[in-house]
Amino acid sequence: MKFFIDTANLAQIREAHDLGILDGVTTNPSLMAKEGIKGEAAIMQHYKDICEIVGSGDVSAEVFSTDFKSIIEEGQKLAAIDSNIVVKVPMIKDGIKAIKWFTDNSIRTNCTLVFSAGQAILAAKAGAKYVSPFIGRIDDSNWDGVELIAQIAQIYSVQGFKTEILAASIRSALHIVKCAEVGADVCTCPLDSILGLLKHPLTDIGLAKFLEDAKKM
Ligand code: G3P
Repeated sequence: MKFFIDTANLAQIREAHDLGILDGVTTNPSLMAKEGIKGEAAIMQHYKDICEIVGSGDVSAEVFSTDFKSIIEEGQKLAAIDSNIVVKVPMIKDGIKAIKWFTDNSIRTNCTLVFSAGQAILAAKAGAKYVSPFIGRIDDSNWDGVELIAQIAQIYSVQGFKTEILAASIRSALHIVKCAEVGADVCTCPLDSILGLLKHPLTDIGLAKFLEDAKKM
C-alpha cells in the first residue's frame, strides 16, 4: 500500500518525506486555504514547491470548476505544472465526463468526494487513476468507511478495474491498518496518523529497559 500525506503544509510534507516512506501528496481547496495560499500564481507556485519536495511521487491538485469546459481548462493548467501532478476532480456528472476526457488525453486523475460503491464504479469506468472514498466522513455519518473500501476492492477485483483505491479522510493510525487489511492501494493521511503507527507502549517500555541494560555492557 502506498502512503500519501493529506496536507498542503510544506513542513509536514518535508517531515513525512524525510521518513523515507512517502509516495505522494493529496491536497484539496480546504487544505490549500488553511496554508493561506491565494491567487492563481501562488497556487501554481505552491504545487511546484510540493512536487519538488516529493520528487517522483504523485501530487493531487484539485480543480475548483464544476462545468466540463472549465474543469478541462483548469485541469490542463494544473497538469502542465509538473509530470507528477494528478488532477483531482469531484464526483459530479461533468466531473466524470472530464475524467474520461483527461484519460483519453493521457492526463491522470483522482476522482474525489466518493461516498458509495456506485460512484467508485463510475470513476473506474471513466478511467480515473485514483478513486478517493472519504472514510472518516462516512464514519461521521454513522456508516462504516472501511467497509466501503472493502466493497470497492471486491468490485474492482471481480471486474478487473485498474483504478487505484485511495482511502481518504483518514483520522487515525487504526484507519490506516484497516484500509491496508481490506485492500486499499493508497492511504492519504494526516502526518499525525502516519506517526501514530509508530506508537506502542511495549516498544517504549522495552526500549527503556534495553537502554538501561546497555549501560551495564
Ligand atoms: O483530501 C480529502 C480528505 O482526505 C479530507 O479529509 O478529514 O477533511 O474529511 P477530512
